[in-house]
Amino acid sequence: MTRRCFAAIAATLTTALLFVGCTPTNEAPTASLEPTSNTATPAEPTKKLVIGFSQIGAESGWRTANTKSIQDEAKKRGHDLKFSDAQGDQENQIKAIRSFIAQGVDVIAFAPVVETGWGPVLKEAKAAGIPVICSDRSPTFADDLFVTFIGSDFVKEGEMAAEWMLKNVKGPVKIAELTGTPGSAPANDRAAGFRAIIKDNPDYSIVFSQTGEFERAKGKAVAEALLKGEFKDVNVIFAHNDDMALGAIQAIEEAGKVPGKDIIIISIDGVHDAFVAMSEGKLNCSVECNPLLGPLIMDACEKAVAGIEQPRRILMEDQVYDTTNAAAALPDRKY
Ligand code: AHR
Repeated sequence: MTRRCFAAIAATLTTALLFVGCTPTNEAPTASLEPTSNTATPAEPTKKLVIGFSQIGAESGWRTANTKSIQDEAKKRGHDLKFSDAQGDQENQIKAIRSFIAQGVDVIAFAPVVETGWGPVLKEAKAAGIPVICSDRSPTFADDLFVTFIGSDFVKEGEMAAEWMLKNVKGPVKIAELTGTPGSAPANDRAAGFRAIIKDNPDYSIVFSQTGEFERAKGKAVAEALLKGEFKDVNVIFAHNDDMALGAIQAIEEAGKVPGKDIIIISIDGVHDAFVAMSEGKLNCSVECNPLLGPLIMDACEKAVAGIEQPRRILMEDQVYDTTNAAAALPDRKY
């Protein structure tokens, strides 16, 4: 083989390999519990970006940890993070996104409080040529209007909570559900996942379902009403997040009952206070939902600005914790 012929074959192979490497994929890569160790290499060298971030609020321990992760990582990388707290209001988020567009930021990231109603403002961002990253929750009917979504599979979390119950709580079981923010992806999906697992098992029935809006005080108030009402003899409380479960634990204790024994409590998030409650036997199970998204969000922002192809969905891997493994895990918890 002549040297020229060899060079031509080598060039063809290199081109083919590059093409395969750049082919968009629908596969959802998973992120580990330590996102920083599992992130793809950020675009190098990275220019300092102006990032507009619209956060939902500060409704839960999860949200506080999520905000800190994002702010810390932006600072670490030297990006200018314009952070806006919407205090749980979609209109405030829309206003913040419009303000980011008017300021001409390099990239916008946001956690949509509810699933619907984002089309018009995201179209404005697209028209301005500003890429959008969805963090924690993703909007529906707007698939072509954001680059990627980084977060957990909320349906799977609901399924894992129900699977833990089927394995550990023998029927017949009456369940009270404390739901998250109405219209939000985690409330919709966790409810759907939980129901999908119990639907064919007549021993498990949801007799009560009311929102505590992901907040501890509201979770407590709903549980207080539950314990005074016609369903006070429920066996299980399934709370869509730890804060509501922790509020319910207070209400159960104040009602003279023993949380974790008289009423089994299952929740989602895996925040520090939930691990303490599991270690004390007051909370029976918490399905993890990792809030430490900062490194992945910054990676996605940098790649979006650099025009690098990204997966449509970057999924976190979540674990199930209960009273058997919480105490051992508690010292290493990072949120
Ligand atoms: O979207 C994630 C959810 O939002 C968390 O489970 C909850 O605690 C938070 O408010």
